[in-house]
Amino acid sequence: MTQKTKYNFFIITILITLFVVFNGLIYTSNENENPIKLTEQGLHGQRLWQENNCWSCHQTYGLGGYLGPDLTNVYSAENKGPLYIKAFLNSGVKAMPKFNFSEAEKEALVTYLKFIDSTGYYPNYNAKFKPNGWVELEYKNEK
Ligand code: HEC
Repeated sequence: MTQKTKYNFFIITILITLFVVFNGLIYTSNENENPIKLTEQGLHGQRLWQENNCWSCHQTYGLGGYLGPDLTNVYSAENKGPLYIKAFLNSGVKAMPKFNFSEAEKEALVTYLKFIDSTGYYPNYNAKFKPNGWVELEYKNEK
C-alpha cells in the first residue's frame, strides 16, 4: 500500500465509524418516548370527528375544508367554549348539518376539541421573528 492509499483508508474508516456511532445514537434515543396521548374519551371524539367528516368543512391549524371556521382554539376562544360547541352540534346552522349526537358523543367531541386547543395557537400571533432568521413559536403546554 502506498502512503496515500493508507491515508485514504484511514479517513474512510473514521467516516464509517462516525456514521455508525451517529446512527446508533439517533435511532436508540428515547426523546419521543412519552408522546402526548389522547384519553379514551378524546379518542372517541377524534373518531366521531373523522366519521362525521368535520374535516370537510372545518380546519385545525389551518388544514381542512374551508366552508366553516378553523376550530383549533374554539374551546378557549372568548365567548365560545364547551356550551357554544355543543349548541352548534345540537342545532346545526344553515351551512352545517344537525348531527343528532348523544350527550356522551357531544362530550367526546368537546374533549377532543379541548385537547386540540391545548396543543397551541392558530393563527400563532405570538410568533417571534429572530434576527438570525428563526421563528420562535409560543406553545401552550410548554410551561
Ligand atoms: C357541511 C359543512 C360542515 C360540517 C360537515 C360540519 N360543520 Fe361545523 N360549521 C359549519 C359552518 C359553515 C359553520 C359556521 C356557521 C356560522 O357561524 O354561521 C360551522 C360552525 C361550527 C362551530 C362553531 C365555530 C365557531 O367558531 O363559531 C363548531 C364548534 C362546529 N361547527 C363543529 C363541528 C363539528 C364538531 C363537526 C363534525 C361533527 C362539524 N362542525 C361539521 C359547517 C360544517
